[in-house]
This record gives sequence, C-alpha cells and structure tokens, in this order.
Amino acid sequence: MKKVLLQAMIVTSLVWGVQAHAGEGMEPMQKGESLKVIMQQLNVDYAALNIAIFMEDYAAAADAAQNIAYHDAVPMATKKKLKASLGKEMKMFKQADMKVHHLALDIEKAAQAKDMKTMIAKQSQMLSACMACHTSYRNRVIDILR
Ligand code: HEC
Repeated sequence: MKKVLLQAMIVTSLVWGVQAHAGEGMEPMQKGESLKVIMQQLNVDYAALNIAIFMEDYAAAADAAQNIAYHDAVPMATKKKLKASLGKEMKMFKQADMKVHHLALDIEKAAQAKDMKTMIAKQSQMLSACMACHTSYRNRVIDILR
C-alpha cells in the first residue's frame, strides 16, 4: 500500500515534470531541466530521504541524499536571467544551493556510517536550508522567470 502510494507520487511528479518541460517550448534545444522541475525532483528525493530515515534504511537514505546533492544543473539561459535580475545577490542564491549540497553530502556520509544521530541533525538543518532559500528567493525567482 505504502509502496503504491509512493509510486503514485513519483509518477505524478514525473508527469508534472514532463508537462512543465513541454510548457517551456521556447528553447527546444535547451539542456537540463527547468528550475521548477529540479525543485519537484528535490521534493521527491527529500520525501524519499525522510521515509528512509524512518525505515532505518541506510542504503536508501544514502541514495536519496546523493540525488539531492547532485540534482540536475539549472539551464544556462535560466542562470543568465537570474543573474541579470538578482545581480550581486546571485552569489547568495548560489550559496544557498551549496549549503543544501554540502548537507546532503554529510547525510550521505552519515548514512554510509549508519550514524543515525548525525543523519537526523543534518536532515533538519537541510529542511531549514531549503526553506531559507524559499523565504528569500522563491517568489522573486518565480517573478523573474515568469
Ligand atoms: C537556492 C535556492 C533554493 C534552494 C536551496 C531550494 N529551493 Fe526549492 N525552490 C526555489 C525556487 C526559486 C522555487 C520556485 C521555482 C519555480 O516555481 O519556478 C522553488 C520551488 C520549490 C518547490 C515547489 C515546486 C512547484 O512545483 O511549484 C518545491 C517542492 C521545492 N522548491 C523543494 C525544495 C527542497 C526539498 C529543497 C531542499 C532539498 C529546496 N527546494 C531547496 C529555490 C530553492
């Protein structure tokens, strides 16, 4: 039952991803996923990490953390747009992404060491890191990319 639900979530998010991608239309040669699709994938990987922690499934936790750390690259055209609007703040935006990246790598390492205490501590820091960027940039970036 649980597995079915998770699969349904993943399928839904994949379908979403395809729709969002098709909707871009303007840049058919563009490589990489849109920022929104990357975020939707982070959402799935973050949920998978939570489940893995509760299930004490260290291998799955390490996988999910690695997927978060190495999410798809934001397309160059999107980066340029963001840089043009955010200016000097682009550095902070990138740092927010790097913070999540490093925490995800810490979680992967802790999972490999079966160190639950560190995993939990880093995972809650990661939630804060995701949300810190959303608080500062999410609505602004949505406006910029609109
Ligand atoms: C560097 C900044 C930044 C970080 C870090 C970040 N996000 Fe986001 N997130 C955004 C922006 C910007 C959007 C809005 C994208 C859009 O709608 O085009 C967004 C949107 C989202 C959405 C909504 C997608 C939708 O369908 O509307 C989800 C879910 C999400 N992020 C999850 C996460 C998770 C989980 C993490 C951490 C693992 C995370 N984000 C870390 C910037 C960030």
